[in-house]
Amino acid sequence: MYHSKITGLGFYVPDNVVTNDDLAKIMDTNDEWIQERTGIKERRHIKRGEDTTTSMGVKAAKIAIERSGISNDEIDFIVFATISPDFYFPGPGVALQKELGLKTIGALDIRNQCSGFIYALSIADQYIKTGMYKNILVVASELQSLGLDMTDRGRGVSVIFGDGAGAAMISREEDVTKGILSTHLHSEGEHAKELAVLAPGMGGRWVTEILADNDPNDESYFPYMNGQFVFKNAVVRFSEVINEGLQANNLQVSDIDLLIPHQANLRISQFIQQKFKLTDDQVFNNIQKYGNTTAASIPIALTEAWEQGKIKEGDTLVLAAFGSGFTWASAIIKW
Ligand code: ACO
Repeated sequence: MYHSKITGLGFYVPDNVVTNDDLAKIMDTNDEWIQERTGIKERRHIKRGEDTTTSMGVKAAKIAIERSGISNDEIDFIVFATISPDFYFPGPGVALQKELGLKTIGALDIRNQCSGFIYALSIADQYIKTGMYKNILVVASELQSLGLDMTDRGRGVSVIFGDGAGAAMISREEDVTKGILSTHLHSEGEHAKELAVLAPGMGGRWVTEILADNDPNDESYFPYMNGQFVFKNAVVRFSEVINEGLQANNLQVSDIDLLIPHQANLRISQFIQQKFKLTDDQVFNNIQKYGNTTAASIPIALTEAWEQGKIKEGDTLVLAAFGSGFTWASAIIKW
């Protein structure tokens, strides 16, 4: 029996900073509304032609690989989480394999939205625990800006999301008191349409019918979010899945050295922080700078926290996510 541990982390965000004031020039919004409701000051949007979901994932992955000290030839498997793939199919896992010049190893694409990184981590952890693989590259990348409704109609959603990618090398750990201690995954499809992009999808229609109806202003191509419903469910599920992870490992809230919540909305993070009575030092947030980058938000935050020296050997980390599906998940890690 083995454990798995994170041996390298990296993230990439495009250079192009889009402030709240920049958004106010193209839609009816303002800095005060966005900051008060979400905590977001700015986010990154790709410049067309300069980046794709795959290219951002590749850039983050190269950093994680270099920091892990593991050579490309030693990577056994790829898990790629995204809701914004370059193509309808194939998914970006195979594109990453090509771009990094990796051997013809397996590549798995994960959807699972904001919980995607923890789902991907859980899969990598299981493959390593069984002894099947030694080194797995887990990547999460989102190019969301090109899929948002940047008109007044979309303002309640579009101001929240940003582009970016994060990556982690997951490797075999012989010491079973260290590394990923447990992961906890959940779903509740009943609320699927409360946070969703409905098209393109077959939805029971012939593709030719969809093409005939293809209207660029069709709202089904843009994200829909029932914001207050999402908020209410998020705070409950975040709390449950954090508690589940703590209980599974006989840990107390006071044992948490760092909670890295999915960067959905600063108000959700603050609600969780208050509920668990965590100090500012015990919770890491960077949504202020990058917005909500969906599956990429946890590995971006994890990498930044590590780069800032906020994660030390022996620390207990809690990763937690909630998102469309609904799906929610947590991971407990001994660093
Ligand atoms: N700028 C200015 N005004 C806006 C904007 C905007 N960008 N968007 C909406 N408004 C207006 C609305 O039109 C409405 O005006 P009205 O009262 O005249 O009708 C008013 O602001 C309030 O709109 P609501 O949609 O009720 O705003 P709410 O207070 O619910 O805040 C928000 C919206 C921030 C999305 C909130 O519901 C929330 O925090 N939800 C949590 C969901 C979330 O954060 N999801 C993140 C992504 S999903 C995930 O990662 C899990």
